[in-house]
Amino acid sequence: MTFKACLFDLDGVLVDTARFHYLAWKSIADKLGFVFTEHDNEQLKGISRMGSLDILLEIGKLSLSKEEKVRLAAEKNLLYLNYIQLMTPDDVLPGVLDFLGELKTNDLRIGLGSASKNARLILDKTAIVNLFDVIIDGNLITHAKPDPQVFALGAQMLKIENNHCVVFEDAVAGIQAAHNAGMKCIGIGSPEVLGEADKVFPGFTNMKLADLKFS
Ligand code: G6P
Ligand code: MG
Repeated sequence: MTFKACLFDLDGVLVDTARFHYLAWKSIADKLGFVFTEHDNEQLKGISRMGSLDILLEIGKLSLSKEEKVRLAAEKNLLYLNYIQLMTPDDVLPGVLDFLGELKTNDLRIGLGSASKNARLILDKTAIVNLFDVIIDGNLITHAKPDPQVFALGAQMLKIENNHCVVFEDAVAGIQAAHNAGMKCIGIGSPEVLGEADKVFPGFTNMKLADLKFS
């Protein structure tokens, strides 16, 4: 199979914002009076802001009104924005720029497929926005991962068949979204968590186009 496009998740794949999401949600949990661990945070990766809050409240065994939830989600986003305002091009994870460069040299198309409504701001802050042929973010999608919508829309906008796209993901829900779209998926992170991916790499350091071969 010759691939024609790569679709990248953002948080935890191209930049380490997963940590900022964790710290912001942890502040909310602290305020509500329960413990929220980094292990708990795995469940929130790739999940929309409101979906994440629902999981957080389940962990804290709390049930809140719709109004209170809207207020808390906005509060979490303000805390998160404080972290991402400080991001610079140095926050792009190691090996990412070289790998994207190799894709460009080989005429592969590059897309972003993220649930985040802050994706464009992060791409701007880290100065990689111009590397993307298409950007699908949380403002464009109605169905959260593991629904395939975010990646299927990316392929459609690139005018490339789904099975000619490879997805890069750090979240289980994202791997499932890629597979539900009929795409291969490379997991970025640990094989223990991302066992459902077709291949898993710890990051982009030393990753090559030749690694996009699947048996
Ligand atoms: C990504 C992250 C999630 C986050 C979601 C929404 O998928 O992995 O942890 O909840 O985006 O992000 P946002 O920036 O819109 O709150
Ligand atoms: Mg992610």
